[in-house]
Amino acid sequence: MKTPSIKKAALLGGEPILSKKPGHFPWPVGGQQEKEAVRRVLHSGKWGTLGKECAEFAAKYAEFCQAKHALPVINGTTAIELILRGLGIGYGDEVIVPPYTFTASVHAIVLTGATPVFADIELDTFCLSATAVEKAITPRTRAILGVYVGGRPFDVDALGAVADKHGIPLIEDAAQAHGSEWKSRRVGSLGKAAAFSFQNSKNLSGGEGGAVTTNDDELYRRMWSIHHNGRSWNSADMTSVCLGTNARLAEWQCAILLEQMKRPDTCFEARSRAAARLDDALGKMPFVSVMKKDERITRNSYHLYCFRYHAEALGNLPRSVFVRAVQAEYVADISEGYCQPIYEMEMLYSDDFKRMTGRTFENPKERLPNNETIAHKEGCWIYQSSLLGTDDDTDRIIQAFEKVADNAEELKHAFA
Ligand SMILES: Cc1ncc(COP(=O)(O)O)c(C=O)c1O
Repeated sequence: MKTPSIKKAALLGGEPILSKKPGHFPWPVGGQQEKEAVRRVLHSGKWGTLGKECAEFAAKYAEFCQAKHALPVINGTTAIELILRGLGIGYGDEVIVPPYTFTASVHAIVLTGATPVFADIELDTFCLSATAVEKAITPRTRAILGVYVGGRPFDVDALGAVADKHGIPLIEDAAQAHGSEWKSRRVGSLGKAAAFSFQNSKNLSGGEGGAVTTNDDELYRRMWSIHHNGRSWNSADMTSVCLGTNARLAEWQCAILLEQMKRPDTCFEARSRAAARLDDALGKMPFVSVMKKDERITRNSYHLYCFRYHAEALGNLPRSVFVRAVQAEYVADISEGYCQPIYEMEMLYSDDFKRMTGRTFENPKERLPNNETIAHKEGCWIYQSSLLGTDDDTDRIIQAFEKVADNAEELKHAFA
């Protein structure tokens, strides 16, 4: 039998760089300490409803974010919704949001009754553009919800200045950005309030879960009440003083998160090292643009390693084929990113949307040329767990890009 060639792309039947999907980057990672944590809760007799683990995690997470308060909640989507509701935002209001985000950022806005207004992103950061936000502001704008895409802090100074100028709050969607820093200050304390997610894939994972952080005492108390069926702050009284829900995080998850918090620093080092190595090598490839360097970003969690792919520099090899071909080399989990813009999704044109917001959604794509480019043509990312290997592992990712480039013509022929 003929041995498959190592030079031929695996997608074309060649030998992949690794013989199988790497088993050495499992995510999330747990062990004896997480088992002990679950056992601890099991034997405590208190499995939920604002217990000891929840209080301890809230205190530790607030400290981690350099914020005054943290409120553990059931997930990141609810965290955003709680912030908006805590700020009194709802029906008839508008919230500015980037289109390059997970749908949850938009769902959370609509679930309060407010209308999401999309403002364009920057091509070289994938984050919200302050200039575009300024243009999207109307008398109904009540907040700016910025998203730290892949963990990269957006331009906090520029967006903060627009928010201040118009007297509206800047909210951080930090679902992907645990531990990232802007000018040596942690995300989670840079705006009015921040939302985090601890969903399975996140750098800090509890399987599911989320948190809100804020420095504002009053907002914190309002969000606390809303997340606890509207009960008044810190009272055991069953009376509801406001409309609320049950968004409390279970003790199991808080206990696991406390253990997971002991791990992120080593993972952070590995991701940063891999990202710097990728920046160096991929930055020299004509078909890749790496993200803009910004000295003000003093720490990036690299939940995603984002980059732009330029098909025209690889003989018009479509992005989808490029990504499949790299994936087939088994060196990394790579994706075309948010390739279906949220403003094309059915949910915004549904009767539900009209009922919730009282508005008819109009496709804003003409105003979003950068998002159109990144979503449909250029945006790509590598998932954080593929950045946890050694330098050799990272070099294999670089090798895969080179190998796919060498096979571009044939790949295009076979798959485009
Ligand atoms: C940017 C962003 N916002 C919000 C969320 C929602 O978080 P969750 O899945 O915990 O509800 C996510 C989750 O992937 C996200 O990536």
